[in-house]
This record gives sequence, C-alpha cells and structure tokens, in this order.
Amino acid sequence: GGGIVIAIDGPSGSGKSSTAKGVARARELRYLDTGAMYRAMTWWMLHHQVDVNDAAAVAEAASRPVITLGTDPDAPTVQVDGVDAAQAIRTQEVTTNVSAVSAVPAVRELLVTRQRQIIDEARDEAAGIVVEGRDITTVVAPDAPVKIFLTASAEMRAQRRSREVRSSDVAATQADLARRDQLDSSRAASPLTQTADATELDTTGLSLDEVIALVVKLADEAG
Ligand code: C5P
Repeated sequence: GGGIVIAIDGPSGSGKSSTAKGVARARELRYLDTGAMYRAMTWWMLHHQVDVNDAAAVAEAASRPVITLGTDPDAPTVQVDGVDAAQAIRTQEVTTNVSAVSAVPAVRELLVTRQRQIIDEARDEAAGIVVEGRDITTVVAPDAPVKIFLTASAEMRAQRRSREVRSSDVAATQADLARRDQLDSSRAASPLTQTADATELDTTGLSLDEVIALVVKLADEAG
C-alpha cells in the first residue's frame, strides 16, 4: 500500500482525538482511535465479571471479545460482539479500569496485531490513516513518516477533559488524569514514551484549528 500513516501519541486530554479526526477530515484519511479498543476490551471484561486486576484472568479472556472499529473520522464506530459500544466505553467505570487492562501484555499483543491490520488495509484502500494512542509512534507504527507527540499543561488537559465529560469538578478530573498518566507511563509493556524522532507539539496555547494546521503541514512536507 502507498497511503500515508500519521502516528499521534500523548497523554489523556492532550487533544489527540480532536486533532487526529480533524487531520483525517482535512486530508481525507481514515482514522483509528486505539484507546477505544482498550476501552472496548475493558468494557467486555467488566461486563463478563472478569476481575480486571487479575492479569492472568484478563490475559486468558482477552481473545474472546470481537472488537470492531469503523475508521470514518466523521462517524467512528465501536462494536463489541456485534453490538454498538460507543457510549458504553466512555463511562467512568471503564475509564477507571482501562489502565489495568491495557497493561496486560496479552491484551496489547492482540490489539496491536489488529491495529496493524487496520493500518495496512487503509494504506491499500485509502489515502492513508491517522492513528492515535499511547504507543503508536513507538510500537504500532514506528516507521510512520509523520510522528507527533502531543502535550499540554496539566491544567489545560483537565479543563478539556472536564468539558468533554461535562464535569464541573476540574480538580477531580485533573487528579484522575494524573493517576492514569502515571499508570500508562510506568507500566512495563509499551509505556507512553516520547521518542527523539517524534515531533513534540505543545497545544496549551493553541486552538484546535491551529494544531490541525500544524500537523497537516508536517504531513504535506512528508509527502
Ligand atoms: O485515549 P484514551 O484516553 O481513550 O485511552 C484510554 C486508555 O487506553 C489509556 O489510558 C491507556 O491505558 C490505554 N491505551 C493504551 N495504548 C494505546 C491507547 C490507549 O494503553 N495505544
């Protein structure tokens, strides 16, 4: 395939999803939210009474859910076992437990394999794909021609996330983000890490349109 791959990593609330979708729309690319896959896996585990803090139990069950993502940036869909799970994966319960599930190596192996398949399909069938997550620039697509590490101040990230989940308790949101970032950055399997060959983009003082324009420019320069 000849399509471009744009890999975007960064902590929660750095603006990854809005940026990735906006870039995909601007350049008519596919869009893959890998966090949605870890959330879908977590939702399934909770729904099937698997103890998410029992890594062996999670590993054993990991191949059972059938997780399907649609890659249209205007209507990204998430299905688990054929049922729409777009709302279910955004609950506080899933958010609280997703870092434990995503730290299990067997879960990551399965989902990374699936993510690479989706990327290969998009490169064959479309102009390319924008992929966002925590390990896209390092593990899933380290050879991507465009690699971005998005950051923003902790305050800005908490504000954005609070708006998303319609919470007025910004301090609680900031504490929850800090907890998740700590878990995601310190786990043994594919932790969130910034590599030297990824372009760091601090979005704190920028509008979404400005961030999208910067990433589109990098993509155009990469060919
Ligand atoms: O991006 P989002 O906040 O929805 O991701 C939810 C969780 O999924 C993250 O906190 C992280 O634990 C996990 N994740 C991951 N690797 C990715 C994407 C998400 O471990 N590539």
